[in-house]
Amino acid sequence: MSEIESVAVVGAGFMGTGIAEAVAVAGMPVIVRDVDEAAMGRAGERIETSLARAVRGGKLSESDARAARERIELTTSLRAIDQADLVVEAVPEDERLKLSVMEAIAGVVSDGAVVASNTSSIPIAELAQAVSQPERVLGLHFFSPVPVMNLVEVVVALDTNEETIARSRRFVERLGKRPIETKDRSGFIVNMLLVPYLMAAVRMYEEGFASREDIDNGMKLGCGHPMGPLTLCDFIGLDVLYAVCDSLYEEFKRDEYAPPPLMKRMVASGRLGRKSGRGFYDYG
Ligand code: CAA
Repeated sequence: MSEIESVAVVGAGFMGTGIAEAVAVAGMPVIVRDVDEAAMGRAGERIETSLARAVRGGKLSESDARAARERIELTTSLRAIDQADLVVEAVPEDERLKLSVMEAIAGVVSDGAVVASNTSSIPIAELAQAVSQPERVLGLHFFSPVPVMNLVEVVVALDTNEETIARSRRFVERLGKRPIETKDRSGFIVNMLLVPYLMAAVRMYEEGFASREDIDNGMKLGCGHPMGPLTLCDFIGLDVLYAVCDSLYEEFKRDEYAPPPLMKRMVASGRLGRKSGRGFYDYG
């Protein structure tokens, strides 16, 4: 069974660039593909900033950061991914978009390549249907910020074969991250536990039961969480969370997964959290 030695990431947003950085820091070459030069420019800046932060925090030497940056190739050409042993799809959480990207990937990758999606809520079984050999498709769900969070959910769909799982697990370990295996069910392990907690905090705030600061401090100082739930909602992005809630609710029809009305209004008003400058808090 061959090891994964080269990687391509399709989608150069916050998650895609984070995945690429983790791969490059682990010593593997990685191609990051997005649709236009503007997206590539933003991706390059994001990677530089994150590597510089790792250097400042003493996680990486200057020369290792430089070497990692040199292993990352940014491109707008889909053809460029055709030699990769693993392709990770990391475009925005929109089912039609993801399906069309999976189809495009399937059109260029080599037969032996593993095809993974970083989706947090779309069934892998659906995405796998866009690929000619669905047995080599699985979910590799990274956590944000990818360079810091040491977990990847390995999502095994109905058709995923053992070889694909084993190669992917070894790849995750090579990144210095811990793989945990889960079936292809909405929310996987982590979001199924995390989302009801976050939504309970949103409802608490919506009802005026406590201030946002007190809700957040309750969990930060009382339970040792690095961020309070409302700060974490802003960090993840309310649009992303809304999509995850919808998918969980659609799958299980349980009230704890239903997005609270306030979330819907905030998404409609463009209050998406940190990335749009305001969410539960203002980020100037
Ligand atoms: N590369 C390597 N290390 C980095 C880094 C980088 N780019 N950026 C930061 N770090 C390191 C720092 O050196 C620091 O390490 P030490 O603790 O050993 O000193 C650590 O990460 C924390 O960094 P900072 O102190 O600079 O930053 P912070 O205090 O603002 O912490 C945070 C930021 C890591 C995001 C922290 O607040 C945290 O862990 N928050 C929770 C994040 C979380 O829950 N993520 C999961 C979201 S859910 C998801 O992603 C799935 C989904 O489908 C929705």
